[in-house]
Amino acid sequence: MLNCELGMGKPFDIELERLTGRTSYSAVFPSVAAGQRGTFFLETFGCQMNDHDSEKVAGMLLSRGYQQVETPEAASLILYNTCSIRERAAQKVFSRLGEYREKQSEGKVIGVLGCVAQQEGEEIFKRAPWVSLVCGSASYRKLPEMLAQLEAGNQRVTGLDTDTDETFETEMTRRDNPWRAYLTIIEGCDKACSYCVVPFTRGPERSRASDSILREVKQLAELGYSEVQLLGQTVNSYVDPTPRKMRFSELLLAVADVQGIRRVRFTTSHPSDFTPDIVEAIEQQPKICDHVHLPVQSGSTRVLRAMQRTYSREEYLEKIAMIRGASKPITITTDIIVGFPGETESEFAETLSLLEEVQYDSMFSFKYSPRPNTPSLSMSDSISEEEKGRRLAILQDHQREIQAAKHSLLVGERFEVLVSGKSRRENQWTGYSTSHRMINFASQGRELLGTYVQVRVTGATPNGLAGEHVT
Ligand code: SAH
Ligand code: SF4
Ligand code: F3S
Repeated sequence: MLNCELGMGKPFDIELERLTGRTSYSAVFPSVAAGQRGTFFLETFGCQMNDHDSEKVAGMLLSRGYQQVETPEAASLILYNTCSIRERAAQKVFSRLGEYREKQSEGKVIGVLGCVAQQEGEEIFKRAPWVSLVCGSASYRKLPEMLAQLEAGNQRVTGLDTDTDETFETEMTRRDNPWRAYLTIIEGCDKACSYCVVPFTRGPERSRASDSILREVKQLAELGYSEVQLLGQTVNSYVDPTPRKMRFSELLLAVADVQGIRRVRFTTSHPSDFTPDIVEAIEQQPKICDHVHLPVQSGSTRVLRAMQRTYSREEYLEKIAMIRGASKPITITTDIIVGFPGETESEFAETLSLLEEVQYDSMFSFKYSPRPNTPSLSMSDSISEEEKGRRLAILQDHQREIQAAKHSLLVGERFEVLVSGKSRRENQWTGYSTSHRMINFASQGRELLGTYVQVRVTGATPNGLAGEHVT
């Protein structure tokens, strides 16, 4: 597999991007035969898996002679990689497409990729007739073929199969960040949470062969990447399809063993598949990051059952106790949905008490959003938007207090951070600890991006830490 260095990455908050973010690929890549086939603009909404898919799509196009450009105006091919997780995310796509209504008449090809593409399929042509390509993530391998069909004069092409055993691997990936590399190890999702579109938009679970993963990690290390982030909607449900049958925890250890790799992260873990050997791997191997993102969704067993989350409050808390029982502190973060149909005030109070009990280091929280095709769409007792908003505000206030208290205890502590951002303010930098704490810190250092430095925490707010570089 070829890989491409970009030079300078952009500062960003991984988690924010994962859930809300939009990434514009602004770097102009000097491709082998730049522009021979035309230019493309690729904009991405959604989670890290979408971000990474876009890196692969970009690599695939670059290797075939397309050139990446910074604006839709400069592009002959405009691609949107979309997210459908909540209604607002999906709406955003159509309003963005509306902005490009005129572009088709200028001879530009407009394509929709990702979860909205998979979910809406040919409906997109009806709602936005100026679109000529619709392709879901399980069909990206067919993209070059689809583009060739358009070049040959076809008006509209689709790639909407999800019943494929293939994982999306390319010969070339154009990664956004020069130090931390995303790597999808399992695509799709076999869980069936009653509120979630992902099993429909990304198809069934497909795990990538362990030897192929390790080969790519070695190449990444040779290219200078020091942090690898293994991705999957349920990353710990990984099942090695090769005769080696590596367990997920063995894969973590094997990735960490690759020379040059200093950090291994993984996200998102499903509580039901979170086993003691994963904690043991974190304990045993310092390169495996001390952070577990373990979405709970609700603190009420009744609601969890209605959500089809496959665990009870008590079973979830047992997993937390197992992680807390580790020989070193491990950061725990979560996702929560408020206002699931039928959620009573006392069930919501159970979520608050779970927060109190677990003491999460950070939380992403959402108002329940009804999604097409999902079982919860037809559930009665929907909660009003106003009430969902009220619960969300209470939940977030509660978590803010927990974080304020937790962060204040960290003042004076030292962390090694991977420097990932430079502030516009003079001598101010951003880095992440292995425990995934973001620290803004002061340093007179000249070129710290991509390096590992020691930082002492000097101040704390509920949302972050401030520090200074110590040598
Ligand atoms: N695979 C991961 C996360 C999937 S999407 C997991 O199982 O945890 C990221 C988060 O979006 C979810 O954890 C959930 O909190 C939220 N989410 C998913 N569907 C949603 C919906 N219909 N309404 C509101 N939030 C939703
Ligand atoms: Fe969606 Fe549940 Fe799968 Fe996560 S585990 S992607 S919430 S169906
Ligand atoms: Fe969104 Fe699809 Fe990811 S719905 S969160 S882009 S899997």
